Amino acid sequence: MRIDDALGRPLRDLRISVTDRCNFRCVYCMPKEVFGRDYAFLPREELLSFEEIERLARIFVRHGVEKIRLTGGEPLVRRDLELLVAMLARIDGLDLTLTTNGSLLPHKAQALADAGLGRITVSLDSLDDEVFRAMNDVDFPVERVLAGIEAAAAAGLTPVKVNMVVRRGLNEDSVLPMARYFRESGHILRFVEYMDVGHTNGWRLDDVVPAAELVAAIRAELPLEPVEPAYRGEVARRWRYRDGGGEIGLIASVTQPFCGDCTRARVSADGKLYTCLFALRGHDLRAVLRSGASDDELSRAIGDVWRVREDRYSELRTAETADIPKVEMSYIGG
Ligand SMILES: C[S@@+](CC[C@H](N)C(=O)[O-])C[C@H]1O[C@@H](n2cnc3c(N)ncnc32)[C@H](O)[C@@H]1O
Ligand code: SF4
Repeated sequence: MRIDDALGRPLRDLRISVTDRCNFRCVYCMPKEVFGRDYAFLPREELLSFEEIERLARIFVRHGVEKIRLTGGEPLVRRDLELLVAMLARIDGLDLTLTTNGSLLPHKAQALADAGLGRITVSLDSLDDEVFRAMNDVDFPVERVLAGIEAAAAAGLTPVKVNMVVRRGLNEDSVLPMARYFRESGHILRFVEYMDVGHTNGWRLDDVVPAAELVAAIRAELPLEPVEPAYRGEVARRWRYRDGGGEIGLIASVTQPFCGDCTRARVSADGKLYTCLFALRGHDLRAVLRSGASDDELSRAIGDVWRVREDRYSELRTAETADIPKVEMSYIGG
């Protein structure tokens, strides 16, 4: 049964974080000073089991969810993730995707495809090895992420989307080389505005390179024209190369917020339901799951949260709101 929130937005997409851990320390997401050796990650028993995730997923689908994205932290560091993919892939009519830093894809892409994963998004912030190694802060080379992207394409996880977060002064110079490289590759490059998620990355509005500026820079060299959105709630604004060289997307959550069409819920690795990336607190679905609740009771718990949802943080964002405490991206799932 479809449910609408207080602003008339249906529940259609679900992001499930399967771990709060990651093998990278991207400076804008898990800075080493905070996520160091003694950082307290969630203990195993606090994570939802694959069975618990599958049960929740089926209930969300009953409520109208059509698309599930697995994320994290780095989802591929969760052991045997392909088993979860196989469990979710059995749910009828579900578009199942995953976001990864790509580092483990050369080994995992085929197993994920065999398990029934539909598509994949790989994050890559630069083709310049020095810049990329500094951004992931674990000295991971570009070349191995590119190998991961090709492994995903070869396994049929297509079209592969490649997400690049642009932060002023850090990787702006990588924008055009990325556009040139991924043009005509069959992969879809998407530029993501740097967001004020979490409270550890020291975000400032000045660090955001607005999507309009990115489009202008690319257009000056490679002519582009806008593409109509494919469906309501599509997050990326799409542009295609005029000469048929493929398309790019822009995720402008800071300068062109899309709260009005936001149909997305998130479940953290420990089973908290968040109705916005910027929500201050989640609703503890794990407690409901582990209390022996029936499917109907779980369903009611989810419906009760969604129906009163009125989040539209990005539309209300001001310089002041950037300072209020928020949950970390690596925990809630990007
Ligand atoms: C949190 S990561 C989780 C999945 C996986 N580890 C990865 O990097 O793709 C999901 C996405 O969020 C993006 N991200 C993280 N922090 C961000 C921020 N402050 N602003 C915009 N995007 C961010 C990442 O670049 C990545 O594309
Ligand atoms: S963006 Fe992804 S790869 Fe980078 S630290 Fe965050 S979770 Fe890890």
